[in-house]
Amino acid sequence: MRVLVAGATGVVGHPLVGALRARGHQVSALVREESRERAPEADAVMVADALDREALLSAVSAARPEVIVHQMSALRLLRDDPAEAFALTARLRTEGTANLVAAARAAGARRLVAQSIAFAAAPEGEPVLDEDAPLYVDAPDPGWAATVRAVAELERLVLGSGPDLAGVVLRYGTLYGPGTAYARTGGTAERVLAGRFPLPEGGSGIMSFLHVEDAVGAAVAAVESNATGVFHVTDDEPAAAAQWLPHYARALGGPTPRTIPAALAPRLLGWFMAHQLTAARGAANDRARTALGWKPLRPSWRDGLGEE
Ligand SMILES: NC(=O)c1ccc[n+]([C@@H]2O[C@H](COP(=O)([O-])OP(=O)(O)OC[C@H]3O[C@@H](n4cnc5c(N)ncnc54)[C@H](OP(=O)(O)O)[C@@H]3O)[C@@H](O)[C@H]2O)c1
Repeated sequence: MRVLVAGATGVVGHPLVGALRARGHQVSALVREESRERAPEADAVMVADALDREALLSAVSAARPEVIVHQMSALRLLRDDPAEAFALTARLRTEGTANLVAAARAAGARRLVAQSIAFAAAPEGEPVLDEDAPLYVDAPDPGWAATVRAVAELERLVLGSGPDLAGVVLRYGTLYGPGTAYARTGGTAERVLAGRFPLPEGGSGIMSFLHVEDAVGAAVAAVESNATGVFHVTDDEPAAAAQWLPHYARALGGPTPRTIPAALAPRLLGWFMAHQLTAARGAANDRARTALGWKPLRPSWRDGLGEE
């Protein structure tokens, strides 16, 4: 099939281009002008900024894709400028996705697969939730509420793109592996190694992890499948912070995270991470397994979190 990968220089997008080509697909890599030199080896390289609608329309039309994969975010900026990273990522999820849907239609694509997140659910009900759980659009932190609303808008645009353009949303779990924040050289690892990632008392927030290779595998499965809808793409072992954080610190060779009163967590960790470690729910992957025929090659975060 002719497939276009938007975000082809990214943590998931880059290896995805190679994985799709290895399966025999003809792959166009969409990159921005300033990132051209980091483009992966591809059948074609198309250049456009997704926030420039006209440029995107003409680049996508030239590639004539049957399937488009959206792996765009600005989260690489997180380490240096978190506010800009979130603001730009929200624009990519809303405006960028709307532009991509328009470009997909104009180019006659029949399928759109987009990256979303599996940790945006409201912290209500069971410890591990399925895709029907409401999103946390009214989170008390205005920054996280804005992020979740942008996620909801991305999902609405992708799934509501009409009968001619089938939509698939892949809600990835917390990514680990090469290039991610949880890699040995990533921002989260840096904080753990420096002893700046304490464990709030109880540590009962649940995290669902996903290795980058499994994110790539699920995207390949979604490209090749006829299934539509929203899927949690997560490993098989949702885990409480009290379990995974000490394991991660050990695997990194760092100090054991000190325990702090839960009330101090937002100040020391920021609202989002405090929420993740104390209240967040995990995400069940049954639907992706059944409908996409996908399963994680790393069923547990114990298979490598903190080791690469
Ligand atoms: N589920 C999760 O845990 C999760 C989800 C997302 C991200 N993250 C974290 O965030 C970091 C980055 O991951 P990622 O894969 O989302 O991001 P990434 O590796 O930075 O990839 C994002 C892609 O989007 C592209 N892009 C950005 N702005 C664009 C624009 N205006 N027009 C067209 N393309 C644009 C980037 O291209 P350029 O090279 O031109 O910038 C890049 O190819 C990692 O540390 C990861 O752990 C985690």
